[in-house]
Amino acid sequence: MWATTVLISFLAFVSLTLASAPGKLVKKASHKPRIPERSSQEGYGFTGCPLDNDFWTNGVIASPYYPSPYPNDIKCWYYIWADIGKVLQFNFTHFDLDGHLDYITIYDGYGDSHPILFGGPNATVTSPNGVLYSSSRYALMTFIATSNKPATGFQLSYSSVNTATPCNRDILLVINGLASVGSQANFVKQLDFIATYLISEWTVGAQQTRVTINLQIDVDYAVLWTFDMVPDLSTLRFVIRGLTDYVPDVLQNNGTDFESLFRYGDDDEAGNDFNARQGIEQVVIVFVAQNPSDDQDFYEAVEFSHRMRHMYDLKVITIAMGSNIDVQKVGQLSFGNGFYFGAAWDNLKSLTQDVNKAICQSYITGCGV
Ligand SMILES: *[C@@H]1O[C@H](CO)[C@@H](O)[C@H](O)[C@H]1NC(C)=O
Ligand SMILES: *[C@@H]1O[C@H](CO)[C@@H](O)[C@H](O)[C@H]1NC(C)=O
Ligand SMILES: *[C@@H]1O[C@H](CO)[C@@H](O)[C@H](O)[C@H]1NC(C)=O
Repeated sequence: MWATTVLISFLAFVSLTLASAPGKLVKKASHKPRIPERSSQEGYGFTGCPLDNDFWTNGVIASPYYPSPYPNDIKCWYYIWADIGKVLQFNFTHFDLDGHLDYITIYDGYGDSHPILFGGPNATVTSPNGVLYSSSRYALMTFIATSNKPATGFQLSYSSVNTATPCNRDILLVINGLASVGSQANFVKQLDFIATYLISEWTVGAQQTRVTINLQIDVDYAVLWTFDMVPDLSTLRFVIRGLTDYVPDVLQNNGTDFESLFRYGDDDEAGNDFNARQGIEQVVIVFVAQNPSDDQDFYEAVEFSHRMRHMYDLKVITIAMGSNIDVQKVGQLSFGNGFYFGAAWDNLKSLTQDVNKAICQSYITGCGV
């Protein structure tokens, strides 16, 4: 069986958390991607390269003085950014370079240490065909010309798109394997909802929608599948349907703490190898089947979810299953209005469209607690 299991103990961490709960809320971090410093244009003087070389969301980039010939002995840098959560699409509409000494390089990331998506030295591209896609929000393009041959250069359009369904995201599914789901039949209903409805149209893949599974089987234990263990939709579906192997009788898993479901979203504490890509939004979907057992339980969950949302920039979506849940209260652990849902066990599939919409939706006002 390739789906290896990983058991993680959180006992030490729990006692720390108990000591510090209810949560003192950390300062709200601004909604910024984490990007390292970038290279400067040192040494290239005025050459026709754009001085303001940040290019946002969509537009057109052309070689210096296009459509007149570009100057000799230049190196231009173009930093290109897609909308948050989207990737870049490039389309060359003109291409006339001395392919030997003059060349374009598009790096699949924010710096020149990232893999080359297009061109590069010695690539000898004479006419790019087709449309290119970056795998994250960022790309760097450089244009180097050292030949003396006059040529008219290039023009390309760039835009922000999704190349996956529901959209390019890293998604963590926190599946509920605790006795609070009420019965094995309910546990199976949860799996059925996910495998048959929720993910049915997802484009799962390394550069597409990446999925990590956290099956919560006790307050202190989870079984994890990193995205490389579920590399495509059929494997993902197979693994989810097979979770009954790990939970043959959900009523055995009678830890009662609700907060454990919110503990796994951030990389540092979870060690869950979420392995998020930079420039791709991260979404945690938590399946809840009970109300918090007491205030302390609730405040601990608040602290975890707050950290996910504000320190790690994760979008948290809660799905309350069953009819006895205080959806509003549990919803406070989500990313805000429009990011929490509830339905009876037999009606979970009615949530499919709205949850998929929320996965792709941007930040709205009223961000939870
Ligand atoms: C790319 O550009 C060509 C024109 O050069 C155009 O015909 C084509 O529709 C464009 N493709 C996209 C996806 O924008
Ligand atoms: C390009 O080709 C030249 C000469 O063949 C070689 O010296 C150089 O290492 C090559 N560069 C790359 C990045 O492959
Ligand atoms: C949890 O379940 C086990 C096995 O059924 C049982 O022995 C134990 O008493 C239960 N614990 C609680 C707190 O209900």
